[in-house]
Amino acid sequence: MSFNIAIDGPAGAGKSTIAKKIAAKKGYIYVDTGAMYRAMALYLIREQATPEQIDEKCEHADITIGYENGEQVVYLNGENVNSYIRTEEVGRMASISSPNPNVRRKLTQLQQKLAADKDVVMDGRDIGTCVLPGAQVKVYLTADSHERALRRYRELTAKGETCDLDTIEKDIVERDRQDMTREISPLKQAEDAVLLDSSHMTIDEVVDAVITLCDREG
Ligand code: DC
Repeated sequence: MSFNIAIDGPAGAGKSTIAKKIAAKKGYIYVDTGAMYRAMALYLIREQATPEQIDEKCEHADITIGYENGEQVVYLNGENVNSYIRTEEVGRMASISSPNPNVRRKLTQLQQKLAADKDVVMDGRDIGTCVLPGAQVKVYLTADSHERALRRYRELTAKGETCDLDTIEKDIVERDRQDMTREISPLKQAEDAVLLDSSHMTIDEVVDAVITLCDREG
């Protein structure tokens, strides 16, 4: 049986950084489910889909993942779309399209298939609650919104982009609200998930805490 680690939490909590490090330490595959929702959003933008058309249009998007040089690559109808999915526009469309039941059914099935026969560290919003309810280790990783905004602000300014901390924090709070209040698969801590608040923890401290949880499960 495969070993599954589920990491859920709000935007900017550090899920992907932590998940990648754990995957490397354990030799597991890292699965970034947000990237799949983003690839679907990119397809819908390219198709100029209206919200009413999402149900039908999403059926024509074939999303798969693979690995090149150790990095997850998302393919949309056979095209590597990694370099197109990190824009604000795609992020906005992803938050509009990810609550759609057809979109979620399609991507959840793909995620479950990946985890069925491989050891994975999967991060997202509904992994412990809906996608992998039987995961051996479940973590709900969070940090306060000001700290998450600061991290994003530092990331952007390091890249030479000009940005405003207050605006970033407002965006983060709004995304949390959308993710937590949607009807289908809202972001919430699974009953059996361990809560880790990374506001005052280093990356290595969080990684060690998750590895300890894995070791306990054998
Ligand atoms: O983590 P991210 O910003 O790349 O996620 C993109 C969008 O997809 C975001 O609006 C939340 C949504 N998402 C989701 O609904 N369920 C997941 N398992 C992962 C992401």
